[in-house]
Amino acid sequence: MTETMRDRLRRIPVFAHVEREDSKDSEPPENPVPTVAEWILAAHEAGQPEPHAMSLCTVNAEGIPSSRVLLVKDIDADRLFFATPSDSRKGIDIASNPHVAAHFHWPVTGRQVRIVGVASGQDRDASERDFAERGRGSRLSAHLHRPGPLPDRRTAFDEFERLDARYPDQVPCPPSWTLYAITPTEVEFWEASVDRVHHRVRYRRDAGGAWRHELLWP
Ligand SMILES: Cc1cc2nc3c(=O)[nH]c(=O)nc-3n(C[C@H](O)[C@H](O)[C@H](O)COP(=O)(O)O)c2cc1C
Repeated sequence: MTETMRDRLRRIPVFAHVEREDSKDSEPPENPVPTVAEWILAAHEAGQPEPHAMSLCTVNAEGIPSSRVLLVKDIDADRLFFATPSDSRKGIDIASNPHVAAHFHWPVTGRQVRIVGVASGQDRDASERDFAERGRGSRLSAHLHRPGPLPDRRTAFDEFERLDARYPDQVPCPPSWTLYAITPTEVEFWEASVDRVHHRVRYRRDAGGAWRHELLWP
């Protein structure tokens, strides 16, 4: 009998490797943002590739959502930072609606973090600093960002080579390159349990800006 897609999906094991019982019993910290940074580093140490990859959901002027993956470039006490062209789809969405949702999932540690917040473009200096710290390939490829379709792959390779020859030393920061900060207003931590009694803690800012947290049913 042929195996259906439905059968194959339902046979994939889930949470089989999750053994950790640590943070479920500890008192949640006052500010959730540093914990996001700790969970990224814990996933990295546990072997998760690209543990700083975060999905970002934006909503356009017509109310249509779209999501994509980005690399988080920094986290301070209150904000997460990523960089992208301001004239990209996400940049245009944020310009008309700064409310965003972001999400991490680390299969190796059986954890996810959901974030709701407000995104804001940082000043030119901060964006140029971010650009200068990138590898050469990444800086050159930032110049490949164009609106509209690409006629064929060869055109992109040719353009990359042209840029490489044009900028043998310094690669200038494209005018649209922008470092964005997400200031979370809500952060939810989720940890898998093999017993399926998963652990959820949700933080929300109150009217005075202080973080409040509560446990949620699995
Ligand atoms: C692992 C991973 C990391 C990525 N990191 C970035 C990034 O840091 N900045 C960026 O602009 N795009 C990044 N991308 C590409 C985006 O997902 C997306 O395709 C691109 O930015 C265009 O998005 P938009 O059309 O919604 O603006 C990454 C993709 C993947 C899969």
